[in-house]
Amino acid sequence: MKDLISLHDLTAEEVMGLLELGLKLKDENKKGIPHKLLAGKTLGMIFTKSSTRTRVSFEVGMTQLGGYPLFLSSNDIQLGRGETIHDTAKVLERYLDGIMIRTYAHSDVVELAEEANIPVINALTDLLHPCQVLADLMTAYEHKGRLEGLKFAYIGDGNNMAHSIMYGCAKAGLDCAVATPAQYQCDAEVAENAKEDFKAGKGQLLITQDPAEAIKDADIVYTDTWVSMGQESEKAQKIKVFGDYQVNKELFAKAKSDAIFMHCLPAYRGFEVTEDVIDGPQSVIFDEAENRLHAQKAVMATLMAD
Ligand code: CP
Ligand code: NVA
Repeated sequence: MKDLISLHDLTAEEVMGLLELGLKLKDENKKGIPHKLLAGKTLGMIFTKSSTRTRVSFEVGMTQLGGYPLFLSSNDIQLGRGETIHDTAKVLERYLDGIMIRTYAHSDVVELAEEANIPVINALTDLLHPCQVLADLMTAYEHKGRLEGLKFAYIGDGNNMAHSIMYGCAKAGLDCAVATPAQYQCDAEVAENAKEDFKAGKGQLLITQDPAEAIKDADIVYTDTWVSMGQESEKAQKIKVFGDYQVNKELFAKAKSDAIFMHCLPAYRGFEVTEDVIDGPQSVIFDEAENRLHAQKAVMATLMAD
């Protein structure tokens, strides 16, 4: 494992290994046991999109591991003025021990990983958000005591979260049901890859347009914004077709009575989820946000430690 670009690229064992290490690092962190696994190392953090959780959790995580996180806004580096990914990779690999990148085109991250001879971590593209799903699986494990055999229902836009959730569930042995409107289905290639991953794993995949079918008997109910970063001009048009996909009390009641509610955040109450669900007793959104820190420390330690 040189990079973390997509959970599809990892074996089930590699995914489970990251989750186990994340849990161990969390436990040590809570007990005050230092783990300076990346002392003297530097992580470059390229952002061409906004972030609260990702930026803060990577910076804090790198610091806790004894390393140095270097924030590189695309407004400030030459990549934002047209320097090529190739040249950026070849320069940064001379200074850094790893690169984390959040950007639009997934192909840019793939190219960066191919060109740079240091680890590259995908911190969200238009296509995928693997770090979030590692944190989400860790959170589900903490609340349910297992992963295999659980039913994970994703309701909403067929976006980067839906894609990474399918890949993550396939590797970790969960059943996964994804309900999206016909106009906003998952990427066809990702759905095909996910089907292959499920065939090789222990869970089942259901892709449907019926939110009630997807959420039935779910252990984990997940949604995400209907308007991802970069889609702001589509907002009015998208909101019109997503009404039936709102996770409200009525829909949530179709899941198992002890289901947990998850959201990667940022959330838009009154759109993809109602207040009574996201702020209700079954919501674990802030555990997910915390686990970004621990799961990403596991990723960085695995990819960057000597
Ligand atoms: N969930 C997530 O990635 O949040 P940020 O956009 O705040 O980083
Ligand atoms: N789908 C959202 C996830 C944000 C963490 C987006 O890409 O904006």
